[in-house]
Amino acid sequence: MDIEGKRAVVLGGTSGIGLAAARQLAAAGVHVIAGGRSKQNIETAAKTAGERVTFREIDVLDRDALTALFSDVRPFDILVNAATGGERAVGPFLEMDLDGFQGSFRKLWGYANSVRLGAPEMADDGAIVLVSGFPARKCNAGASAISTVGNAVEGFVRAIAPEIAPRRINAVSPGFIDTPMLTIPAADRDELIAKATAHLPIPRAGSADEVADAILFLIRNDYVTGSVVDVEGGILRT
Ligand SMILES: NC(=O)c1ccc[n+]([C@@H]2O[C@H](COP(=O)([O-])OP(=O)(O)OC[C@H]3O[C@@H](n4cnc5c(N)ncnc54)[C@H](OP(=O)(O)O)[C@@H]3O)[C@@H](O)[C@H]2O)c1
Repeated sequence: MDIEGKRAVVLGGTSGIGLAAARQLAAAGVHVIAGGRSKQNIETAAKTAGERVTFREIDVLDRDALTALFSDVRPFDILVNAATGGERAVGPFLEMDLDGFQGSFRKLWGYANSVRLGAPEMADDGAIVLVSGFPARKCNAGASAISTVGNAVEGFVRAIAPEIAPRRINAVSPGFIDTPMLTIPAADRDELIAKATAHLPIPRAGSADEVADAILFLIRNDYVTGSVVDVEGGILRT
C-alpha cells in the first residue's frame, strides 16, 4: 500500500506503541485519528504528534462510540489497535482472582469490537494491525492471563484474515518494550529494565518506534495477511 494521503484510525494511539505508530504514519503522509480514554494522555501525546494526528477520547469497549467514530471517518484505509484494554492480571494462576483473569480479556474484546465495527467501513485494500505480545509463546510464571490473551489475539488474526479479504489483518508481537505500560518507578527504571533484559540476545528493552516500524511494514506490504511479526530482541529464543 502506498500510504501517503491515506486515512488511519489508531486506537490506543495516545501512548507507547500506538502513539509511535500514529507519529510514524503521520510522518509518512497519513491522516491519523488517534484514540484513547484519558484526556491527560491525549494532551501529552498531542504535544509531540504533529498536525496530521487528530485525537479523540474513546474507550474501545464502548461499541456505540466506536460505531460513531468509524462512521465519522469512513471510508478509511488503516486500522491499528494497540489499546491494552486497561486491565492485566499477573501472578500464579491458582491464586488468581478470576475476575482479574477475565478482565485481562478486555484487550481482546477491544480488538474484536474495532475489527467487527471498523472493517466494514474500510477500503477493500485496507490493512489492520493488532498487537499481541511475547508471553503468548514464551510464558514465564505468573503471566498466564497475558499469555492466554496474547494467544487469543494471534488466533483471532489467523481466523479473521480469510473472512475480511481482500482487506488484510496482521499482528505484531512485542518483546520487552520501554513504554508507560511498564509501571516501574522512574528512580529504579533503568536498573530494573537492564536486569530484566540482560539475558536476551539483544540485551536491552526495545523502543515503541521499533515496534511501530513493524506495524508500518505490515500496513505497506500487500502480500502479508493472518501473520504475526515478532519484535522481541530474541526473547523467544531464550
Ligand atoms: N510494552 C511492552 O513491553 C509490551 C509487551 C508485549 C505486548 N505489549 C502490548 O502492546 C500494546 C501497546 O502497549 P504499550 O506498551 O504501548 O502500552 P501503553 O503505553 O500503556 O499504551 C496503551 C494505550 O492504550 C490505551 N488504552 C488502554 N485501554 C484502552 C481502552 N479501553 N480504550 C481505549 N484506549 C485504551 C491507553 O490510553 P488510555 O489509558 O488513556 O485509554 C494508551 O493509549 C498492548 O496491547 C500491550 O499489551 C506491550
